[in-house]
Amino acid sequence: MQNALQERINQANHIVVFTGAGMSAESGIATFRDPGGLWQRFSPQELASMDGFLANPERVLEWYEYRKKVITEANPNAGHKAIAELELRCRDLGKEFTLVTQNVDRLHQRAGSVNVLEVHGNLEENKCSVGKSDCEKPIVDAPANCPVCGALMRPNVVWFGENLPAEVFAKAELASQDADVFISVGTSAEVYPAAGLPLVARQRGAYMVEVNPDETVQSMYFHHTIRNTSAVALPEVLTMLEGDV
Ligand code: OAD
Repeated sequence: MQNALQERINQANHIVVFTGAGMSAESGIATFRDPGGLWQRFSPQELASMDGFLANPERVLEWYEYRKKVITEANPNAGHKAIAELELRCRDLGKEFTLVTQNVDRLHQRAGSVNVLEVHGNLEENKCSVGKSDCEKPIVDAPANCPVCGALMRPNVVWFGENLPAEVFAKAELASQDADVFISVGTSAEVYPAAGLPLVARQRGAYMVEVNPDETVQSMYFHHTIRNTSAVALPEVLTMLEGDV
């Protein structure tokens, strides 16, 4: 099995890595659905929906400020670093590499990943909560109110019932269709449409690798499962890539 994985990685023209909250667990950031996870302690209806925001914007903004603080104090782990290194190595070897993340913590970027498709947005930016065409652009260090229309600003993350950023998701879909090796890391694969990406890759014939200490609802679709944490497993995957460093 290990040899098959190594062979596929070295033969691949395009490697896609798809990450979820488990990726940042070893950086001390809580996942959503594990025991003690965010959605066990907090209500997604209250904190991750437009209805929740309209009902109590102060509460929602305060919660995202708390999450931002946790993230600012955290550091990328060995798994994030291995993915950043994999991107560099792939570039040197003439392979395509795409990183798609559901995470909003930007730890991939802080670890050195360059091309990151953030399908659920990020916590660093805020955007207008009304979002008419002129005021749609997300801003880092944003004021409380939209500079264009004066409405309240909100975090630039995707809430339940909202569309994913269309251009970013289209790129993620194209990459998944084109992947020779698709590595899914630290996601329960329960939240669609993002969770559809591994299925797209599988259908198009990618060699499927799952990195997760636990089985997921999608485990059956994977050719190779690594039942370990991302900070342990991903540096090992990186060493499988042959070629001059
Ligand atoms: P979940 O919390 O649903 O799943 C986390 C997964 O990570 C689980 O399958 C765990 O077994 C696994 N895991 C835990 N520790 C790990 C480790 N150290 N290494 C590797 N895997 C580990 O998180 P997501 O799948 O990311 O949406 O959740 C998807 C979306 O649901 C999130 O993006 C978020 C949430 O609502 C938005 O914010 C829009």
